[in-house]
Amino acid sequence: MDAAIAYARENAARFLDDLKALLRIPSVSTLPEHDGDVEAAAEWVASDLRRIGMEHVEVIRSADGHPLVYADWLHATGKPTCLCYAHYDVQPPDPLDEWRTPPFEPTERNHNLYARGAVDDKGQLVTQLRALESILKTEGKLPINIRVLYEGEEEVGGEQIAAFVERHPERLKADFALISDTEMFAPELPTLCVGLRGMIYTELEVRGAKSDLHSGMYGGVAPNPFNALAQIIAGLKDRDGKIQIPGFYDEVAKPDAAELKAWHDLPFDEADYTKNEVGATALVGEQGYSVMERTWARPTLDVHGIVGGFIGAGAKTVIPARATAKISMRLVPNMTPSRSFERYKAFVEKLCPVGCAVDVRLVHSGDPSVIPTDNPWIRASVRAMKTVWNRDTVFIRSGGSIPIVGDFEKNLKIPSVMMGFGLPDDGLHAPNEKFHIPNYHRGIESVIRFFEECAQ
Ligand code: BES
Ligand code: MN
Ligand code: MN
Repeated sequence: MDAAIAYARENAARFLDDLKALLRIPSVSTLPEHDGDVEAAAEWVASDLRRIGMEHVEVIRSADGHPLVYADWLHATGKPTCLCYAHYDVQPPDPLDEWRTPPFEPTERNHNLYARGAVDDKGQLVTQLRALESILKTEGKLPINIRVLYEGEEEVGGEQIAAFVERHPERLKADFALISDTEMFAPELPTLCVGLRGMIYTELEVRGAKSDLHSGMYGGVAPNPFNALAQIIAGLKDRDGKIQIPGFYDEVAKPDAAELKAWHDLPFDEADYTKNEVGATALVGEQGYSVMERTWARPTLDVHGIVGGFIGAGAKTVIPARATAKISMRLVPNMTPSRSFERYKAFVEKLCPVGCAVDVRLVHSGDPSVIPTDNPWIRASVRAMKTVWNRDTVFIRSGGSIPIVGDFEKNLKIPSVMMGFGLPDDGLHAPNEKFHIPNYHRGIESVIRFFEECAQ
């Protein structure tokens, strides 16, 4: 394995070029005009897997979604099997004018590589590829069996992979999964993520009069879907961030005392976090819960966008006939997407004022997860990261969602190791997303060591 590490170091410059090549493909999964780019990214990943000597490389297409990329190498007889997961799709790059350099022209500044998808998740996907390459090119074999399953629609809910995992558990037989799509709690602090929030993503469409109306002639009697939408939204949460949906918190499980203590002991400066990481004058949210609890172990509700009516320059006096909003909720163990959605839908319908009608649509959803930590794979990861980072690993949860983790547990009955190398200020989903370049290289070394430790 030392040969593999040496190979990774000798090839560090080219490894970065490989990542840049993938970052140049604008594989935005939510925008139909980028379908061809998502396909091109899948092909890039597949041909890279072929080049490094992985077997049975396949781009798995389906009629109504983006492809999966599968590959395996299964010649380590008697050794465990790891299912490697990451995603090659990215979020839309807007607002474009806030990028210092264009989102799909990866640029190095200050030991960081800036591009959409740099950390979420192409940079982390490629850490797996370069780790596998480093071992295969130096040893001619892998220390454990590997299956790789990459998806191209994680950012839009991951329907294809969920269906595939449900239908083909035998093709994915493994002892555990390695998920490369999370962050470290702080720079230089090796981190395992052991819990994720789930989510339901919804759209509300409020309709009022049969068409747009003059707001002078009809203002005062005609229902206004925007005002109605504002009333609905305002009713969903109180000023302390407590969600008002009846029964919403009924299934929320409280983290146990040991986990809460561990969170309390993490190096965290709330004032610095507020001012520099969030960049706001104050934090909001439920009273009596720490920032970690509020972001990792409490459900929440956020509005992402409101569309409709007049948004051009200047003024137009109109009462729009319809207004829509995109609203999502993050769920925590033991909430379920279906029950949460039913409660939300019923409450929104109740909040909708007279004269308007509201349509409540579920766009996608994913289960929350907590990961068992008492297993050899987690221990192997802690040993691997100790070698590379020279520090003990901290265990955290994340407020984000990776729906497939719950599916791996449910359908494949395997635990996940969520070892990720993002940093808190990497700006995922935001303008000027970046990946800290030393983390890319140490991520590769961590994955090499991890596979080695899993063979012990
Ligand atoms: N990698 C993120 C999730 C994440 C973020 C995990 C930070 C840990 C720390 C993932 O790509 C993501 O953004 N997921 C979406 C999922 C959703 C669209 C189902 C999310 O959380 O909004
Ligand atoms: Mn991601
Ligand atoms: Mn993401």
